[in-house]
Amino acid sequence: MSNIAIYPGSFDPCTNGHLDIIARSAPLFDKLYVAVLKNSDKKPLFSVDERIALLGKATAEIDNIEIISFGGLLVNIAEQVGARVIIKGLRAMSDFEYEFQMALANKGLNPNVETLFMTTNTDNSFLSSSLVKEIARNGGKISQFVPEAIEEEIAKKLY
Ligand code: PNS
Repeated sequence: MSNIAIYPGSFDPCTNGHLDIIARSAPLFDKLYVAVLKNSDKKPLFSVDERIALLGKATAEIDNIEIISFGGLLVNIAEQVGARVIIKGLRAMSDFEYEFQMALANKGLNPNVETLFMTTNTDNSFLSSSLVKEIARNGGKISQFVPEAIEEEIAKKLY
C-alpha cells in the first residue's frame, strides 16, 4: 500500500513556512498532495489557479508532490486521493487550539485519516500569508519570507 499524505491550506500565497513543511514532509511519504482550498470565505489576493501555479514553481524540484485544489471537507478529498495522513504545520502554541479542534473534527468525520503535526522551523514560527501580504501592502521587504518568484507576483498584484 502506498503511503500518501495531504497538506491542505489556503496558500494565498505560499510562504517559506509552507515550503519548509512541504520540503520536510514530502520525503516521508510516497506521495504528498498539496491541496489548495477553493471556497474560502476570505477574499483572496491570488485566484486558486494562481496559487497552484505559484506552489508549482516553488516546489518544482520535489518530484513526489502533486498540487490540487479542493472544495468541501478535507477528509473527503483525502479519501478521494487515497491519503491516510493530513499534514499540518504548527507554528506557535496559539495555533494549537484551533488545529487540535480541526484534527478532532476530522478524526470524527473519518477515523481512517490521521493528522500529523509538524513543527515549523524556528525562523518561520511567526510567518503567515496574511502577515506577508500586510508587510507588502505597506511597502515592507518580504524577500526573507517568500521565494523571489512569489515576491515578484505579490508586487505585480499590489503595485
Ligand atoms: O491555510 P489555512 O487557511 O489555515 O487552511 C485551512 C484549511 C484549508 C486546512 C481548513 O480550512 C480546511 O480544512 N477546510 C476544509 C473544510 C474542512 O474540512 N474543515 C474541517 C472540518 S470542520
